[in-house]
Amino acid sequence: MPSLQPTASRIAGTGAYVPETVLTNDDLSRRVDTSDEWIRERTGIRERRIARDGEAASDMALAAARSALAAAGVQASELDMIVVGTISADMPLPACAAILQQKLGAGPCPAFDVAAACAGFVYGLSIGDSFVRQGSARRVLVVGVELLSRVLNWADRTTCVLFGDGAGAAVLVPAEESGGRVLATRLYTDGNFARSLYIPGGGSLEPLTPEGIAAARDKVHMIGSDIFKVAVRNLTQASRDALELAGLTPGEVDWVVPHQANLRIISQVASRLELPLDRFVIDIDRYGNTSSASIPIALDEAVRDGRIQPGHSVLMCALGAGISWASAVVRM
Ligand code: ACO
Repeated sequence: MPSLQPTASRIAGTGAYVPETVLTNDDLSRRVDTSDEWIRERTGIRERRIARDGEAASDMALAAARSALAAAGVQASELDMIVVGTISADMPLPACAAILQQKLGAGPCPAFDVAAACAGFVYGLSIGDSFVRQGSARRVLVVGVELLSRVLNWADRTTCVLFGDGAGAAVLVPAEESGGRVLATRLYTDGNFARSLYIPGGGSLEPLTPEGIAAARDKVHMIGSDIFKVAVRNLTQASRDALELAGLTPGEVDWVVPHQANLRIISQVASRLELPLDRFVIDIDRYGNTSSASIPIALDEAVRDGRIQPGHSVLMCALGAGISWASAVVRM
């Protein structure tokens, strides 16, 4: 990797991809004992996207990455690093980032996955920014991608209604003297909640057996109320921490791009930060919870439709399995 003058990084381009197939709440109510009303009122979700048969996480990551590279004016061959936040990679080994690197025709730059669940994209942003800051990378591709529909138990109404598939990406390059830059990032994990949201089987502790598969041990298990309680508190604190590091008050933020897990969580964070909900980029109604992809998908949408403008201050915050959570403040 190149050795460069240390400088902050900036987001030079964003991209996103969601599969075409739409699964509505009404569709789900024909599969499990649920209703459009319950899902909308408890979560804010109306529909989500589902990958087509044969489509891989790396395919979705590729589409989002190409779009971000084009927006940034960076060639895949110019990348110094690829970081992919995912917990639903194509296969346990190798990293999704390695497969993405090959599909992009990039390399031989370092390419690795970050398993921080919903916080994976912000973790990747922080890692990429650190490498640019220390002068050992110039162009870093950060991706959040999840193909959660393949790791859900479609008979479990407490989880299957919540999630969707998708990918988002951003390209980091060295910041210029004035203009956009990553102002602050903060990362956290509390392993005491490791079993509040997890996939128990299929790892080295519990290799899969036919009985394990029949009992859906290879699918997502979640105690949603455990996560809900800590999510509001931790996301608010992480947001305050990153803002303090960036030297900003909540009122100085132009846009908040939160992880889209539950509209009620987002609303409660907004009220604790004393910010109006219309300053939040929200797309959970259309995509559900796409885990690590949710922030870069929402960010890309708001950049492309002109809500987020150059010079705007953007706060991002996410929390998911681990539990791991993270925040970032970026001047676009
Ligand atoms: N349809 C109808 N009823 C349901 C459904 C459903 N899909 N799911 C649960 N219920 C029932 C429950 O069985 C329960 O019934 P009971 O009272 O008879 O026992 C009732 O609804 C209430 O269930 P709760 O779990 O208490 O509902 P809650 O209001 O907490 O909402 C939810 C559940 C939406 C999961 C919420 O807890 C939540 O959003 N949690 C946080 C999720 C999160 O942020 N996860 C982290 C990110 S994901 C990642 O990292 C990959």
